[in-house]
Amino acid sequence: MIIPRLPASLAYGGDYNPEQWPEAVWREDARLMQAAGVNLVSVGIFSWAKLQPAEKTFDFGWLDRVMDLLAEHGVYVCLATATASPPPWMSKRYPDVLPVDANGATLYPGSRQHYSPCSPTYRRLAAALVRKIATRYRRHPALAAWHINNEYACHLSECHGEATTRAFRVWLKTRYRTLDALNAAWGTAFWSQVYSAWDEIFTPRRAPYHNNPTQQLDYRRFLSDAFLELYRQEKDIVNAITPGVPVTTNFMTFFKPLDYRRWAEELDFVAWDSYPDPLPGLEPERMGAVGHDLMRSLKKDRPFVLMEQASSAVNWRTINGPKAPGRMRLGSLQTVARGGDGVMFFQWRASKAGAEKFHSGMIQHVDPAFSRVFGEIKQLGADLKALAPVVGSLVRARVAIAFDWHAWWALELESKPGRIDYAGWAQELHRYFYARNIAVDFVHPGAALTDYALVVAPALYLLTKADADNLTDFVARGGTLLATYFSGIVDEHEHVVLDGYPAWLRPVLGLWVEEWAPYAEGQTNGVRFAGARGAPVKTGHWCEVVHLEGARALATYTHDFFAGRAAVTEHAYGKGHAYYLGTKLERAGLDRVLDTACAKAEVAPVLVTPAGVEATVREKDSQAFLFVLNHRDEAVRVNLGRRQGTDLLTQQRCKGKVSLPPRGVAVIALT
Ligand code: GLA
Ligand code: GLA
Repeated sequence: MIIPRLPASLAYGGDYNPEQWPEAVWREDARLMQAAGVNLVSVGIFSWAKLQPAEKTFDFGWLDRVMDLLAEHGVYVCLATATASPPPWMSKRYPDVLPVDANGATLYPGSRQHYSPCSPTYRRLAAALVRKIATRYRRHPALAAWHINNEYACHLSECHGEATTRAFRVWLKTRYRTLDALNAAWGTAFWSQVYSAWDEIFTPRRAPYHNNPTQQLDYRRFLSDAFLELYRQEKDIVNAITPGVPVTTNFMTFFKPLDYRRWAEELDFVAWDSYPDPLPGLEPERMGAVGHDLMRSLKKDRPFVLMEQASSAVNWRTINGPKAPGRMRLGSLQTVARGGDGVMFFQWRASKAGAEKFHSGMIQHVDPAFSRVFGEIKQLGADLKALAPVVGSLVRARVAIAFDWHAWWALELESKPGRIDYAGWAQELHRYFYARNIAVDFVHPGAALTDYALVVAPALYLLTKADADNLTDFVARGGTLLATYFSGIVDEHEHVVLDGYPAWLRPVLGLWVEEWAPYAEGQTNGVRFAGARGAPVKTGHWCEVVHLEGARALATYTHDFFAGRAAVTEHAYGKGHAYYLGTKLERAGLDRVLDTACAKAEVAPVLVTPAGVEATVREKDSQAFLFVLNHRDEAVRVNLGRRQGTDLLTQQRCKGKVSLPPRGVAVIALT
């Protein structure tokens, strides 16, 4: 049970910002929430200025009334700590709270998130506010969970001010202890960078040319930790005052600045905000799915909550398309299908003023009685109620994609042989599994891998010896590994591991790489699979000159100076198999490699469906739920094979072939 106050229901609701509305509207809000089946709202996220209009003045009266009203209507509150947007008096009185960018420019108030993560003043004032809020509402019947701050680092992910620079030095001292160790790790013999005192070290500010890469990597590690310290400060306060009330903050899927894997250890449940672009051709259903899979994997033993999504359009892209009828429901049920126990929105009522007034809400700018969106919101409330039996069930995957934030940071620093989009490449590999209804997790390369039959490691550029050993053991014990180009190149200090790439993975892969050949946009090569007839498969982006030392070639290049050499290999190692993909094959070729790896690992889809129809399974105890989602705009028939059961949404028995209308969903409790 991730939210003890909601023991047997999926969470349903959204951000609620009553401070933007007169009190008369609040009563209608509460009534409409009830009508829509809303049971949880996040309150107060941006209300610091309202709660503390001056340093010594607090005003909780309005929030007391909101909390009471919600409690009377059976709506629980995920209460914000309200620290995401400091009030104007703070930066006027204490300018040191303001962040500074790499050019030395101060970022001013007037928007949100204008605080330096290392400002002692911000930390002190935030802690005082959180203590007050937690103390005031610790026994309130509406309090169900804590929503700490909001989307940490979303707009402001770095700071180069005085306090941050000092904190960076402290962090470095803890990590390295001596300057000699730091100089060695940073490779400062290069370009005359040797440090002889700690206060010679700065955050990587604007410099004439490339900053030291290890300094940049450490700065990213430090920032992720610095923001986490802010979160932890607030979490410790609410934990002490309200033990047992779950604590979370909202993540943002593939968000580079924060190492969410480390962060997730500090959350009682993972919550995240999903905004795939609904414009045609951008595959919002696939982008939603990959986000859910990454977020779910951060805490595999429990469901997550979708803390925010849009009921229709957002306001922050250049072109903000609406979600067509049925798409919001479909995306919401996909959330549940992929392991979510809550579906929430930004926000309950669309704003009248401010920068987000054209962002959709559960209540739009019209009378809800005449609103298409609100009609769908009510329908979704009823659907989620019907899905209560799935609460607490889990998605179990036998495939994992190795994904590490540190590898991401290091790979995308400048001065590399070519440009690799780390998250994009991981998502491209995920696409294969998504399209075939094969459940997939994202894991750290050093994680326990015993649940998995197949591990895919895309461009795992930074890889420690321990993590390489972990992948190697996985194969030795019978697992199947597929590693791709530019893996295992540097250690945790971003130093090349010498004597043939990919160094510590050489034995398991049975090969070594001598050279890389990154390709220009549009430049291509061909790859011919052994025994295949017809035209070679096209490839581009990146090729490698591979020497086999035990592996066999499954496919070879047709052109360039390395024509005839291996592009795809297979190596039997211990009880398992390791595949290597040295290039970025076009889709058909990539699918072929993944088909081979899946066959070897004996992983199979949960259900074979027509294209555009997604299927997943959630399980608990001995009960399994089969979700079938039709993302197409036409009706489909799906063959359940030997599976049968009752559709929780319609209470109909399902057996053999089931029909799904356009954008229709079935959630079958299997019997
Ligand atoms: C984020 C924020 C919200 C709001 C939405 C708009 O998710 O957390 O406060 O700005 O974006 O999409
Ligand atoms: C930390 C991280 C890991 C790993 C190493 C490499 O230990 O938690 O993700 O990548 O750093 O620097």
